[in-house]
Amino acid sequence: MSSLDALPRLPLVNAPTPLQPAVRLSTVLGTEIWFKRDDLTGVGLGGNKVRALEYLIADALRDGCDSLVTGAGPQSNWAMLAAVTARRHGLAPHLVYYGTPVEPLGNHALAELAGADIRFTGSTERTSVDAGIEALTRDLRARGKRPYALPRGGATPLGSVGYLRASSELADQLYENGLKPESVWLATGSCGTQAGLVAGARLWDASYRVTGVSVSRPVTECVARVTELAHEAGRLVGLTGTGADDVAVLDGLVGSGYGRASTAGAEAARLVARTEGVFLDPVFGAKAMAVLVDRVRAGRQRGPVVFLVSGGAPTLFASPGTPLAPTPSHSAERQP
Ligand SMILES: Cc1ncc(COP(=O)(O)O)c(C=O)c1O
Repeated sequence: MSSLDALPRLPLVNAPTPLQPAVRLSTVLGTEIWFKRDDLTGVGLGGNKVRALEYLIADALRDGCDSLVTGAGPQSNWAMLAAVTARRHGLAPHLVYYGTPVEPLGNHALAELAGADIRFTGSTERTSVDAGIEALTRDLRARGKRPYALPRGGATPLGSVGYLRASSELADQLYENGLKPESVWLATGSCGTQAGLVAGARLWDASYRVTGVSVSRPVTECVARVTELAHEAGRLVGLTGTGADDVAVLDGLVGSGYGRASTAGAEAARLVARTEGVFLDPVFGAKAMAVLVDRVRAGRQRGPVVFLVSGGAPTLFASPGTPLAPTPSHSAERQP
């Protein structure tokens, strides 16, 4: 028995988001593909992170917090959505970005529009954000504020419960459509979304395998993070075995590194735009789709497949044809 409904949650998502057959794309690939449209979650310009924020913002309000501190890179969908969601619920948003000040485009522009307090760490190391979040949280506390701190990507067990819940929404839609997918595919960064889907698949006894395409971290690191977050998220809802012992993560870095558009990704995004009129973001969705197309064409992935369209539209307008993030050092490159 799950205690999913016992956890405090703010209903932010326009649920259910559509589950749509990608008819023309399926014809081109010769494999049945469906889209779960979480680019249409309905806060900001939509995206997967809104599902995590339903639980995280509820937790912040329950703790009596008055502000939210998180961070990432200037083009982080997570940071922008955390800021606008915080605004909607009366929390003052503070964002810590790695690097030095850059022209506000894409998500950075939207976070500024929402009036977030934005600071740069001065270092291109993505991990500098973690120390920056800690320091700013301490500073706000010293000034009598009640900040709620969240890590890059919001990848916490509580945040992962968002996709545990989404799995129930998906299960209903699969039933309504008489659909038994082989696999649910998604782009994986900080791993919270995949963890929720893995735990949810177990909770609702799904027939499908969850396949993540890592766009930032080495595959082994992702597998470990997804496994742990899935166990912990499952525990939060009273689930003992999460089935997260056989987590599938594929390498989606496709040459270019995190935060940068890739040739294969751009080609996959063009295919999807021209067949389905759906825009995949260059950092996450396009790279995951590139790996899916490759696998399908190589006869290594059968249908039906459900592909999570996870949002990220603002990065389409971030910086056309040029890197979407500051040039990272090698060690920092692979961490969202
Ligand atoms: C558009 C988009 N898709 C996918 C992901 C990956 O989600 P996660 O970080 O939970 O692995 C992110 C993360 O920021 C994202 O912004």
